[in-house]
Amino acid sequence: MRQNNVYIETYGCQMNVADSEVVMGILKNNGYSITDKPESADVILLNTCSVRDNAEQRIYGRLGNLKKYKDGHPGLVLGILGCMAERLRKDLIEDKKVVDIVIGPDEYRRIPEFIHHAYHGEKGIGVKLSKTETYDDIIPYREDGLSAWISVMRGCDKFCTFCVVPFTRGRERSRSLSSIIEEIKLLSGRGFREVTLLGQNVNSYYDEAGFDFADLLAAAAMVDRKIRVRFTTSHPQDLSDKLLYTIAEHSNLCNYIHLPVQSGSNRILELMNRTYTSEHYLELIDKARKIIPGVSFSTDIISGFPAETLEDHLMTLDVMNKVRYDGAYMFKYSPREGTKAFKMEDDVDEETKSKRLQQIIDLQQRISAEVNQSLVGSNDTVLVEGFSKKSDKYLAGRTDTNKVVVFPAIENVSTGDYVKVKISKSTSATLFGDFIELVDKYSVPGERLTA
Ligand code: 5AD
Ligand code: SF4
Repeated sequence: MRQNNVYIETYGCQMNVADSEVVMGILKNNGYSITDKPESADVILLNTCSVRDNAEQRIYGRLGNLKKYKDGHPGLVLGILGCMAERLRKDLIEDKKVVDIVIGPDEYRRIPEFIHHAYHGEKGIGVKLSKTETYDDIIPYREDGLSAWISVMRGCDKFCTFCVVPFTRGRERSRSLSSIIEEIKLLSGRGFREVTLLGQNVNSYYDEAGFDFADLLAAAAMVDRKIRVRFTTSHPQDLSDKLLYTIAEHSNLCNYIHLPVQSGSNRILELMNRTYTSEHYLELIDKARKIIPGVSFSTDIISGFPAETLEDHLMTLDVMNKVRYDGAYMFKYSPREGTKAFKMEDDVDEETKSKRLQQIIDLQQRISAEVNQSLVGSNDTVLVEGFSKKSDKYLAGRTDTNKVVVFPAIENVSTGDYVKVKISKSTSATLFGDFIELVDKYSVPGERLTA
């Protein structure tokens, strides 16, 4: 007998994690239950990523793997959601016979309908993109916890020439500020301590009532002083002064900005359609550091974009040396069909791409280690997330600036507490410290509790 059990597996960025929660919300409202065991599922959904070729290859591998569940349960429905669904559409069903339904990011409301038809042997494809869909009224399904992702805007209008996102997720649109604030209030009532506002271009948020991203952050910060507010991903073009001053003003708006630079060469930035120069980017970083003392930065870097010379590559290393990022996500360029860069010649050979990427990774590791070492001896406020990965004699959490801190467990300190910790040791990835005292909560705007 069919139990309507759905198992969902999520790949790619945090937007997909948030989308999977929306999908589960929709399914729950329609009488489905969620299982974490694929072997007991009647429906298996993969929420997929297309941003680089290796992400897609991984999902193809997983599809081959899932065949066994279909053999054991012939009525099982297998669905592909997300960016791969949008990009490959009917090819997915034609090439991969195991797939029954293919649903793009703007058609999730129709999932119950597609599953219903698939139960009756009818395969289905829903990949229409929408200019307005934000799932504003859907309450995402979340387990209780400390940290929640909240998608606040969808799509991207920037059209960086390497990126498939504007094609797979469509045009930018924002949820209403009021619905986001209501969602944070619900999370506050359930004891959540951290929310991360998400968008492919989160700082270009602009709702129909005329509220911009700074307005949204300020309102989010005021809901509950015990809730930290994070956000990602920001585009340098939309990092306004108003936004920087808002972050500085509210103690529970985290001092951490993920600000992808992609390349340090103006020629490559232009070919990428990034709309800024490295000089402009560096000025922005300086300004942010003046307005928000102690702010930390991470970035995304692509190595081996078409026509990238050794000189261009050295400029990227130079920008990394100037900014001294706290962390970075670093990738080899991967040509994506349909993008502008796909028409350019992918002329940096694989070996050179790998070599340059390794140099970027090595440099970043050295910088992260140095930045962390400079924090030894200082105090910081940590939100305790639980025991450390390695031992339950240690607790672990993150600072406002998104650094992982590990410290010896103390009897009356538990998950969800804010504690002041003195940093005693560091590596490129982790800070180690000692407990000083419990911190009650983030206080009034303008006042910072760090050290
Ligand atoms: N090749 C390599 N990296 C890419 N990214 C996006 N598209 C590509 C691509 N075609 C990277 C960018 C972006 C991050 C999410 O993924 O650095 O900021
Ligand atoms: Fe892709 Fe650029 Fe949009 Fe980011 S800003 S999603 S890299 S097109």
